[in-house]
Amino acid sequence: MMGLRFYLCFLVLFTTLFISTHGLGHLCLPEEHVALFIFGDSLFDAGNNNYINTTTDYQANYEPYGENFFKYSSGRYSDGRIIPDFIAEFAKLSFITPYLHPGYHQYTDGANFASAGAGALAETRQGMVIDLKTQLSYFKNFERLLSEKLDDAEAKTLLSRAVYLINIGTNDYVVPFTRNSSIFQSYSQKEYVDMVIGNLTFVIKEIYKEGGRKFGFLNLAPLGCLPLGRALNSGKTNECKHELTALAKLHNKALTEVLHNLENELNGFRYSIADTYTILSERINNPLKYGFKEGYIACCGIGPYKGINSCGGKRSVKEYELCENASEYVFFDTVHPSEKANQQFAELMWSGTPNVTGPYNLKALFEHK
Ligand SMILES: *[C@@H]1O[C@H](CO)[C@@H](O)[C@H](O)[C@H]1NC(C)=O
Ligand SMILES: *[C@@H]1O[C@H](CO)[C@@H](O)[C@H](O)[C@H]1NC(C)=O
Ligand SMILES: *[C@@H]1O[C@H](CO)[C@@H](O)[C@H](O)[C@H]1NC(C)=O
Ligand SMILES: *[C@@H]1O[C@H](CO)[C@@H](O)[C@H](O)[C@H]1NC(C)=O
Ligand SMILES: *[C@@H]1O[C@H](CO)[C@@H](O)[C@H](O)[C@H]1NC(C)=O
Repeated sequence: MMGLRFYLCFLVLFTTLFISTHGLGHLCLPEEHVALFIFGDSLFDAGNNNYINTTTDYQANYEPYGENFFKYSSGRYSDGRIIPDFIAEFAKLSFITPYLHPGYHQYTDGANFASAGAGALAETRQGMVIDLKTQLSYFKNFERLLSEKLDDAEAKTLLSRAVYLINIGTNDYVVPFTRNSSIFQSYSQKEYVDMVIGNLTFVIKEIYKEGGRKFGFLNLAPLGCLPLGRALNSGKTNECKHELTALAKLHNKALTEVLHNLENELNGFRYSIADTYTILSERINNPLKYGFKEGYIACCGIGPYKGINSCGGKRSVKEYELCENASEYVFFDTVHPSEKANQQFAELMWSGTPNVTGPYNLKALFEHK
């Protein structure tokens, strides 16, 4: 079967080469190929923000970011690889290139649209980041590029077999919370969560309309227990900022419900949620059990818990301290996991058991025909 498909594909390739210059860009898609598309925020951004008009507040393309693995700062918010890099490795794909990278050409492997600082709400850091809906419009541009490279049937197959990873929401809560914005006076917490989840649902349904069927999500971390959250409680040792964590809990409950409903509503829709909340809480509270030495304090930053976002010294606060060995820390900077923590996350997303990743894990989604 595979041989026949390849044979037909090459036949089409040769015919088009001879009869039309359009055939020059034609690619052949291997039978088992599963592409990976990535949407979201800094947990997933592999460098898109390097190419937009923003500030160093929303970029990580300077040292010490990325140095332990890439030996240069690629724009990833970690000391090394981020979660999508590990997922791509497990799926035997090469690292998925940021969509905005000039000379983008990896059409059949997928694309990364994620943008550090972005939210599901357009208002979240408007003008500084690529919000989720704009990421969706880039995906639609990508589809047009793809349809020039593959014939219609192959493009359709690629999109329906692909896995779509989405991580969004953290910034929608952290931004108004840390800026003490009046938004929570205009909306009840539930109304606000419903807006965030509503915008996310819109994007999921649009991807579904374009043929996407397999989706992977992370729920939100205990946001008040990140170094940034603890630093907001200056003076109260080791206390999480409970009001912030409470928003994450509301979001997670709503996300679970909406995905369950979409599974009933959308024929063929399959998804995976990794329980970041639990996975991270365990590592924060029992770092030794997971091979870390420190779960509260970040490796890079300044102030209590290194909770002030100054890593690299290019943001508003210039002073920062860097630990000696990032692998001993759950957090590399004030909100982002170290490469080692990212690897543990990715492993649990890939092959985790239903108590942390369900109803499917990513391995099952990649293998599903
Ligand atoms: C980039 O953004 C700044 C501030 O928002 C603005 O003044 C400047 O004109 C923008 N540059 C471009 C090339 O869009
Ligand atoms: C999402 O949120 C904003 C509010 O910030 C709203 O204006 C926008 O139209 C919403 N919809 C989508 C699909 O992003
Ligand atoms: C936040 O804003 C409210 C009212 O807008 C005010 O009462 C409160 O003191 C502010 N909190 C901080 C930490 O600035
Ligand atoms: C860094 O820490 C990790 C985890 O404790 C350890 O395995 C590794 O050997 C350390 N590296 C160096 C250079 O000390
Ligand atoms: C989930 O289940 C696995 C295997 O059954 C177990 O090793 C792990 O500790 C469990 N994790 C949680 C968070 O309950």
